[in-house]
Amino acid sequence: MSPFALTRTLPADATAAALRADVATGLTRTPKELPPKWFYDARGSELFDEITRLPEYYPTRAEREIIIARADEIATATGARTLVELGSGSSDKTRHLLRALTARNALRHYVPVDVSESALTGAAEGLLADHPGLTVHALVADFQYGLHLPPAPAPRLLAFLGGTIGNLRPKERSAFFAAVRAELAPGDALLLGTDLVKDERTLVRAYDDAAGVTAAFNKNVLTVINRELEADFDPDAFDHVALWDAREEWIEMRLRARGALVAKIPALDLAVHFAAGEELRTEISAKFREPGVRAELAAAGLETTHWWTDEEGRFALSLSVPVPVPARAG
Ligand code: AVJ
Repeated sequence: MSPFALTRTLPADATAAALRADVATGLTRTPKELPPKWFYDARGSELFDEITRLPEYYPTRAEREIIIARADEIATATGARTLVELGSGSSDKTRHLLRALTARNALRHYVPVDVSESALTGAAEGLLADHPGLTVHALVADFQYGLHLPPAPAPRLLAFLGGTIGNLRPKERSAFFAAVRAELAPGDALLLGTDLVKDERTLVRAYDDAAGVTAAFNKNVLTVINRELEADFDPDAFDHVALWDAREEWIEMRLRARGALVAKIPALDLAVHFAAGEELRTEISAKFREPGVRAELAAAGLETTHWWTDEEGRFALSLSVPVPVPARAG
């Protein structure tokens, strides 16, 4: 059997249909809004990788510090035979986790799940070269539409790293955690990365870097719409905006029209009007506090057994296990 398999849970045209639907609804409502998953075509995934190396973008480095420091503990605590990683991207930080898990335990299977097929195939090559005994079953999927994980040997460790959980609103998070809980059997565990609330300046700089990489990443969503839906957005007609919403405790990224403009989207038979200064929200990135994370997980039937942060307390990694559902009498 080949050690690499790739499954698309949605046919390629379902992705196209989802983009059309998101653009049609998101750009005709007030305020305008698009989901952040459309950033990640091949170019967007590349730009995101560049973001993770920026001096201002601390989450990736902070999380990697925790993973390196705690990989052995995670391996011992979970004894995982399968690592399922949601939103795996380039699987960069996963390397450290895989190394510890394969060295310590019987870890044999890696199931990376991502919306970006190019990121999945690129990552698998390197991992297979490093781990000859490993089976990689990549899944092109959007986990917001439910988890459709292939059967894999237990115990399974489900990892959701990078702080991507912050892209979801509170209600979406509780639905997501409930879906995760439903996937987990006794002995399985969830490894969750959450970026933490901190001073506004540090947060805003992480999403508005001096080199303008995040601005290019933000505007890339317009390029994706241009290509996929034959639209005529001029990315230069928009400014990149990153702001901290202190009440919601999330970062928002927006694209602000420099002047009044009309973009045509022939594939949707749509003309989208922007007033001068009008903004399109492209991402929320929520930041967390320990009690809040524990409470959200507990509400879904997940008990947090470990909470680790980096030295500077910027980012947290937590390990949670399913709380047994009491058997009903009768
Ligand atoms: C991949 C969702 C974790 O929210 O920090 C980085 C995406 N957006 N810079 C984040 C992102 C702008 C990132 N996540």
